[in-house]
Amino acid sequence: MRVANKTALLLCLVVIVSLFSATASEPQRDVESRVEALLSKMTLEEKLGQLQQLDGESNGNFRPEHVELVRKGLLGSTLNVRGAQRTNQLQRVAVEESRLKIPLLFGFDTIHGYRTIFPIPLGEAATWDPQLAERSASIAAKESYAAGVRWTFAPMVDIARDARWGRITEGAGEDPFLGAKFAAARVRGFQGDNYGTPGKVLACAKHWVAYGAAEAGRDYNTTDMSEYTLRSVYFPPFKAAVDAGVGTLMSAFNDLNGVPTSANPFTLTQVLRQEWRFDGVVVSDYTAVKELINHGAAADDADAARLALSAGVDMEMVSRLFNQKGPELLKQGRLSQVTIDEAVRRILRIKFRLGLFDRPFNDESIERNAFLTTESRAAAREIAGRSIVLLKNEREALPLQKNIGSIAVIGPLADDKQSPLGWWAGDGRDTDTVTPLAGIRSKASPQTKVTYAKGCDVLGDSTAGFADATAAARNSDVAIVFVGESKEMVGEAASRSTLDLPGRQMDLVKEIKATGKPTIVVLVNGRPPTIAWIVENVPAIVESWMGGTESGNAIADVLFGDVNPGGKLPVTFPRTVGQVPIYYNHMQTGRPPELNNRYTSKYFDIPWTPQFPFGYGLSYTQFKISNVQLSAAEIPATGTIRVSADVENVGKRAGDEVVQVYIRDVVASLTRPVKELKGFRRITLQPGEKKQVEFQLGPEQLSGYNREMKLVVEPGEFKVMVGSSSEDVIEKSFRVVLGAQASSPAMSKANR
Ligand code: BGC
Repeated sequence: MRVANKTALLLCLVVIVSLFSATASEPQRDVESRVEALLSKMTLEEKLGQLQQLDGESNGNFRPEHVELVRKGLLGSTLNVRGAQRTNQLQRVAVEESRLKIPLLFGFDTIHGYRTIFPIPLGEAATWDPQLAERSASIAAKESYAAGVRWTFAPMVDIARDARWGRITEGAGEDPFLGAKFAAARVRGFQGDNYGTPGKVLACAKHWVAYGAAEAGRDYNTTDMSEYTLRSVYFPPFKAAVDAGVGTLMSAFNDLNGVPTSANPFTLTQVLRQEWRFDGVVVSDYTAVKELINHGAAADDADAARLALSAGVDMEMVSRLFNQKGPELLKQGRLSQVTIDEAVRRILRIKFRLGLFDRPFNDESIERNAFLTTESRAAAREIAGRSIVLLKNEREALPLQKNIGSIAVIGPLADDKQSPLGWWAGDGRDTDTVTPLAGIRSKASPQTKVTYAKGCDVLGDSTAGFADATAAARNSDVAIVFVGESKEMVGEAASRSTLDLPGRQMDLVKEIKATGKPTIVVLVNGRPPTIAWIVENVPAIVESWMGGTESGNAIADVLFGDVNPGGKLPVTFPRTVGQVPIYYNHMQTGRPPELNNRYTSKYFDIPWTPQFPFGYGLSYTQFKISNVQLSAAEIPATGTIRVSADVENVGKRAGDEVVQVYIRDVVASLTRPVKELKGFRRITLQPGEKKQVEFQLGPEQLSGYNREMKLVVEPGEFKVMVGSSSEDVIEKSFRVVLGAQASSPAMSKANR
């Protein structure tokens, strides 16, 4: 009887489980069958049409020729066409006038905001709080969706170790672990659980791959690196994006080890499709297919189309070679029908998953009230505030008292509405920007006299404004100087050969400092600058990045102490451009630098150390990290070790500390970095408050590539370093053992 009951129960469970899994996989099966049904009706021209993406006008209009192409079924997607009404108009042609009624997919670069602009992604990474990036991406998705955009070419997840490269501004900095966390968070923010949900957009991890390693920091330049570095450093943020369900990837402009990335079967097919099982779409970067000819990889247009398509690019952005040359390539047997069909299948699959066939149009009434809402502005202000990094604060020069008598607000970036928006500012408008001057004016007490003097331009040689600026400083209690880069100097095609402040800005800072008035420097910039003189001579330095629409308010929040800065650098700040590429997780060498030993790895003329290390940032309060403990002295290769530490706010204000955990695999079959970030947590502590933080280090964190390019945990000693930056750490160690019994998980004495 009992047995019978059990069997019945089991049967019941099986039925319930299979019912559930049937419902779960139904939509997916449905998508696949709809894709196949549609594919079977398409002509070759219509198929190639789906692989084509064309550029709209910069103001968001589609071009006259698009209408005809769409009507004939010869265009699958656009970029830059936006606005609910305009996208509806073109979509109507697709779904009402084309033979197969396949909807268009509208793409756009919503990178750090659509209309409400958030800090540049590098700045957002300085929050060390991926949830904030998820939040900003989700607001950006909502605004984009309201404007008819269904696909954003973000997140940009390129690792960048060379600050000369202007696009360092678009990513999360130099570290694969931090980069992976931000990549996944941004994908979740844009796409949610399902990018077909209204208010969500399809994301695109770019630029696949190693684009950030352009030689000499010169944009679009060659990259050449070992598979080991590629897999350990440049792949992880992409892998994290794929694991987070990113729908698309963009193939890059650069050549990689002799094979351009937009025609590279190793990265596009072997890694992406075979190893990672990615079933979404790969779109080429802007004219990257045609550029295969310039690379010397393709002999002509047909060759370029053949190489890109057969390597694994599905959609061609702007150049039109798939369309123009597809038929002849097919006829000549140089391209197979299977390759074309597979690319079309992937694109249709995405369109079905997005719900475009069922809901092709936008509700035009949403757009009017979707932008710059009170909530999104508040989020922009909060995130900008949390991205700010306090680089120096001698004798508590900051924060300022709100009732201070007078402030001189100086510098070319003090009242500039453009630069805070940064590169790729979506549809952000400078008229919406709160400048630092406006932020300071609205926060200081009504009695405080605020004087503004520009001093000089960001670029250019004129010092004509110096006299006014020094006079303003002399007549005030404090001088705050806003210097850095203009929007045009960062981002794509904005490589620089020096990281010094451009124009006469450094001279301006020197003149202001020479007045003898307390001087504070606020940096507004998109990449690590070299500011050695300022670091030596100015008592307080604030890194505000390019903080977006609410940047000025966020800066004022920090300057006056309403927000206690808690950001940390996601990238190393060099002393001079000659140190570049400089990054904390460099390999161990045979001759690590030693001060008094010439024949070690360092410079003759300058220290080998950075100006500010990765993970660095101060606060208006002080923290003490202590009592670092490991849960075992030994673990098996499959095991997990618990790392704990106490963090205490030993200062007088509430504030945030970012506790960071690094490891070093001391001896391995391939050389390992001196340090690798493997965990971090930003926590808020009241004065006197103490908390214990815990991290788990398991196979995911402890593994590295071996000579066969397999990820393995190798036995031997591991160092664990816990601290407040990559240089300020407490070190412990444990061993990974093979076969043998690992010690008990209780706190081991050896590691106390
Ligand atoms: C950039 C991409 C961008 C594309 C479309 C290219 O020049 O490299 O990042 O998504 O343009 O605007």
